[in-house]
Amino acid sequence: MLRGITGKSAIVTGGGRGIGFAISDRLAAEGARVAIVDLNEGLLNESESRLSKTGAEVVGLKCDVSKENDVNSCVKQVAEKFGRVDILVNNAGITGITKALTEVSEREWDEVMSIDLKGVFLFSKAVLPYMLNQGSGSILSMASIAGKEGNANLVPYSTAKGGVITFTKALAEEVVSKGIRVNCVAPALIDTDLIKAWPAEQRQRLSNKIPMGRLGKPEEVASMVVFLLSDEASFITGQCVNIDGGRGKY
Ligand SMILES: NC(=O)c1ccc[n+]([C@@H]2O[C@H](COP(=O)([O-])OP(=O)(O)OC[C@H]3O[C@@H](n4cnc5c(N)ncnc54)[C@H](O)[C@@H]3O)[C@@H](O)[C@H]2O)c1
Repeated sequence: MLRGITGKSAIVTGGGRGIGFAISDRLAAEGARVAIVDLNEGLLNESESRLSKTGAEVVGLKCDVSKENDVNSCVKQVAEKFGRVDILVNNAGITGITKALTEVSEREWDEVMSIDLKGVFLFSKAVLPYMLNQGSGSILSMASIAGKEGNANLVPYSTAKGGVITFTKALAEEVVSKGIRVNCVAPALIDTDLIKAWPAEQRQRLSNKIPMGRLGKPEEVASMVVFLLSDEASFITGQCVNIDGGRGKY
């Protein structure tokens, strides 16, 4: 077991499936009380019932991470149910439609920014009063190797994920003296439903860039995320850790 996870109150956005579910599952296995947050009610019910069957203390909450009222009400419900908020995982995200920048509409740009970047701002802002009051807390956001290297035909997504990395560094410095750590991770291609929806050519082109010659697994992302959230990483803040089979060089 990792130090500092058992008994903690954790929120995982986009926890209904994929990487978010794997993180929720791992946090619950380490003894955390987990609030799974998702927009999709069907996925939410399914993931809540899967984790509850393991004996974990879990609650599923419907919320759109891009809507401030939803986010504030969600964090309030978690604080009321679990008594505190120790861990936030900003995982919910979309890639948006794959296309050249000249074809991207204002609405498509705004949608990616609202979910992938504004959602991270809204949730972090909403949990901070609890963490500041407790004098402790750990925030982990899902960036992407796209946010470091940039991916063609995914300019809005790459830009939003680059923003998540800078957000992480700035906020980490702001709260470092308050007992709160803020980190992010940058996965390359991970085998989830998100990339199954992509054009085959794009999946192939990006998977060819991974020196290990395979896609990552959601559980491999969850291992690093839960380590960074735990007290095992007590001297680590403001970092972006690549989980990418050797693709990223910095
Ligand atoms: N899969 C990859 O290759 C990969 C690589 C790098 C980074 N990431 C990032 O990891 C995160 C999870 O990716 P995934 O592959 O598990 O995706 P996924 O599409 O399988 O799961 C995303 C979850 O987020 C939820 N969601 C979407 N919009 C939401 C909103 N507005 N409010 C609340 N919930 C919302 C979805 O319902 C879904 O359950 C994303 O931020 C993604 O950008 C994924």
